[in-house]
Amino acid sequence: MTTKSKDFYNYQEFKQAADYVQQHTKHQPEVGLILGSGLSPLADEIEAADYIPYQEIPHFPHSGVPGHAGRLVIGKLAGKTVLAMQGRSHFYEGYTAQHITLPIRVMQVMGVKTLIVTNAAGGVNAGFKAGDLMLIVDHINFVGMARNNPLRGPNLDEFGPRFPSMTNPYHPDLLNLARKTARNLNLTLQEGCYTYLAGPTFETPAEIRFLKVIGTDAVGMSTVPEVIVANHGGMRVLGISSITNVAITKTGTEAETTHKEVLETGKIIVPKLITLLKGVLSKMD
Ligand code: HPA
Repeated sequence: MTTKSKDFYNYQEFKQAADYVQQHTKHQPEVGLILGSGLSPLADEIEAADYIPYQEIPHFPHSGVPGHAGRLVIGKLAGKTVLAMQGRSHFYEGYTAQHITLPIRVMQVMGVKTLIVTNAAGGVNAGFKAGDLMLIVDHINFVGMARNNPLRGPNLDEFGPRFPSMTNPYHPDLLNLARKTARNLNLTLQEGCYTYLAGPTFETPAEIRFLKVIGTDAVGMSTVPEVIVANHGGMRVLGISSITNVAITKTGTEAETTHKEVLETGKIIVPKLITLLKGVLSKMD
């Protein structure tokens, strides 16, 4: 990691990063798009694109994880102007929760009103299989409960309130739009609750059984910090998990969760996800 995290960033620092991005693109993005592990080929669909490597943007975190490219791709997708993050940074890399979410503040300063966030996740719900897509309808911020909430620290009133509501972190209109789009496209779309753990270890079987008891349908190492900061700043959020593997509930079996499996299944899911996201974008107001 070459960019050192600070605990807290101020409005001027977010603005500096946003100004740099705005000066390096001809577009005025309206939708933000975060592409998770193995899902970055989606950015190749973006037309008339401007590319901005993360390391050139002031204060921007940049990831070194295989499967995560590190650049903004800004252009047209299904009739909308999107700012896509081809790769994201993670808490397990050593960044603070606030640093991971700096790109969301950049989107907010630029006037982006809607965020679509994707990730790779392990399926905990016994009805899920590898290759499924899951609409995220709620989340459990496990990492935040243990003090690492991205809104910890001085509240920046320019963005939002000290105590934001999290009753509808995923916007009901966008949930309905995604359901309707999937139905029209004949795509199976699972639904459920995503639990955010810090990683980088995958879960033990006992941890998976515990996650199931507390209401988890899918588990992963990202997304929730970005969703919280997006809500704090008044953005509408849609979240979709790619179920890249089914979580293992028993010790002593041959089965094992690996990053290779996550990336390989991600590749298979990409065409389905592209179809769904294009369908959603084309109908979004
Ligand atoms: N656990 C946590 N994160 C993940 C998984 C998993 O099984 N699969 C993809 N990301």
